[in-house]
Amino acid sequence: MHHRITSVAVIGAGASGAAAAAALKAERHFEIIRVFERRETPGGTWIYDPDPGQSTVPTPGLLAPHLDPRSTVPANLPASLPPLGRERWEKTPVYEALTTNVPAVAMSFSDCPFPYGPFVPHWVPKQDIQDYFSRQATDTLLALGTTVEDVTRLPRERWSLTLRKYDPTLRVDHWWKEEFDALILANGHYSVPFIPAVKGLAEYIERYPGKVVHSKTYRTASSFAGRRVLVIGNSASGHDITMALTSKASLPVYQSRHSRSRWDGREPPSGVAWKPVIDRYCAHTGSIVFADGTSFAINDIDCVIYCTGYQSSFPFWHSRANDGPLWDYSNGRLIGTYLHTFFHKYPSLGIIGMPRTLTFRSFEYQAIALARIFAGRNSTPLPDRDGMKTWEMDRARRCRQERKKFHDIPWEEGETLDYFRSLFEIAGLPTLEGDGKCPPVLDESTRWAIENLRKYPEPGKNQDDGVLDDPGLAGEGASKVADDGWVVVAADRPRGLQVLP
Ligand SMILES: Cc1cc2nc3c(=O)[nH]c(=O)nc-3n(C[C@H](O)[C@H](O)[C@H](O)COP(=O)(O)OP(=O)(O)OC[C@H]3O[C@@H](n4cnc5c(N)ncnc54)[C@H](O)[C@@H]3O)c2cc1C
Ligand SMILES: NC(=O)c1ccc[n+]([C@@H]2O[C@H](COP(=O)([O-])OP(=O)(O)OC[C@H]3O[C@@H](n4cnc5c(N)ncnc54)[C@H](OP(=O)(O)O)[C@@H]3O)[C@@H](O)[C@H]2O)c1
Repeated sequence: MHHRITSVAVIGAGASGAAAAAALKAERHFEIIRVFERRETPGGTWIYDPDPGQSTVPTPGLLAPHLDPRSTVPANLPASLPPLGRERWEKTPVYEALTTNVPAVAMSFSDCPFPYGPFVPHWVPKQDIQDYFSRQATDTLLALGTTVEDVTRLPRERWSLTLRKYDPTLRVDHWWKEEFDALILANGHYSVPFIPAVKGLAEYIERYPGKVVHSKTYRTASSFAGRRVLVIGNSASGHDITMALTSKASLPVYQSRHSRSRWDGREPPSGVAWKPVIDRYCAHTGSIVFADGTSFAINDIDCVIYCTGYQSSFPFWHSRANDGPLWDYSNGRLIGTYLHTFFHKYPSLGIIGMPRTLTFRSFEYQAIALARIFAGRNSTPLPDRDGMKTWEMDRARRCRQERKKFHDIPWEEGETLDYFRSLFEIAGLPTLEGDGKCPPVLDESTRWAIENLRKYPEPGKNQDDGVLDDPGLAGEGASKVADDGWVVVAADRPRGLQVLP
């Protein structure tokens, strides 16, 4: 690090921003910590917006730089100007019946456990994040309703942020700049929806307004009562929404699958019919033609729900001023990172929340490592620039060979602990006097929960027989399975059965 860091900005007050603020404050080193959040409350993804807002469906194949473009920053700041009114996709994809899909003991912050589990309704994580800010006394660091519109690197590795806050009494946007020694991006990556480019889809959307939607705007199964629905995708959103629709929509609910998911058995679940990917839409006739040659005529389907995920977006990143872009859209990954957290080119920049792995818990490891480095108190040094580049090239090569996504760190592949360990070791312990947070342990019961508790049955792994009869799971554990429908599965890497935490 070239200079002493005394001021740090954080973009976003979701779970990543909450972890960042807590870790930075605990160092008792920084004079200024500011957490900028464009919404009026912390919570990020977990805020439920009954009105999903966006009435327009994203253009098929359109990437974030076009769907969520940069704002033009006023030439002279500070300034108060007519509201920008730009679509920033800031409403969340949370639907009414959403519950978590990671066991509470493994998902929640290590020092602020969810009050119950294993899988909780969406308002529990939201409350937990909000409570985390007050419990860690970082609520005073929040600048709410404040959107970061531009991030520009200054000489000596400092950062200039251009900020915009809507003033509802004057009905204007106030614009101003603030400068910081370091910056943490905790802006999330499930805001800007993605719909793949399919032949004829753009014309179909235009011709039949409202017929095609994205899961981001799905709120309840009741709004599809009696309707014939085609769901695209079978990852978490596709699976959850398809299953919810079977209780309300016209049966069967059709589900178009690109590949097999962990929940798919040999046959579709009751009330669901599987279809392959869509080959083309015909706006003229209204037909939808699948890759196997089967088709739906205009009146066979009332609604198509694209559960095809989200894309990262950094509209505030000033690529020209910052010597290049931050995200590679053709390979779906950050440019120039080390451990998905640090940047080769920017020693005073960090990012939290990018890898697809355990969430809140991994944010803690990232946040504590970053806070420790910015405070100059890390236990293990980062490699030099060449070392970081080597890590990045090796990972990219391995991901290409194994056909996996750069930022995916699935537990089943055994890589997660090594990843956490790297961050854990960079951070090291707090001081004897109590400066800094201690990176959390990932103890036996937490690892057991990750490997064995599932929200949905997984064919080939459910232990309907042996596990539930085990004395360690008798009583409350066993009856919970029956009541709430969650299941105990066999771990991918057998490690012997243990008692529920
Ligand atoms: C439908 C759905 C269900 C999910 N279910 C689970 C689950 O069961 N278990 C689990 O572990 N994870 C789940 N996730 C993943 C979830 O996103 C993470 O748990 C976690 O909430 C991510 O936190 P984050 O802080 O990184 O991002 P976010 O929660 O997205 O927070 C980012 C924050 O940054 C703010 N922001 C963005 N840009 C700006 C800007 N320019 N200026 C100011 N503020 C800005 C946003 O408003 C937002 O508040 C789910 C995700 C989705 C979409
Ligand atoms: N708590 C919960 O229960 C819950 C509910 C919803 C979402 N989530 C979380 O939210 C995040 C986003 O999940 P998500 O399901 O919205 O997105 P996602 O995981 O990115 O999944 C996108 C899906 O779209 C499919 N797809 C892409 N192009 C397709 C095409 N042309 N035809 C058919 N399918 C296509 C993908 O298939 P391929 O993989 O084969 O390409 C994949 O199944 C995840 O972190 C998830 O865990 C959690």
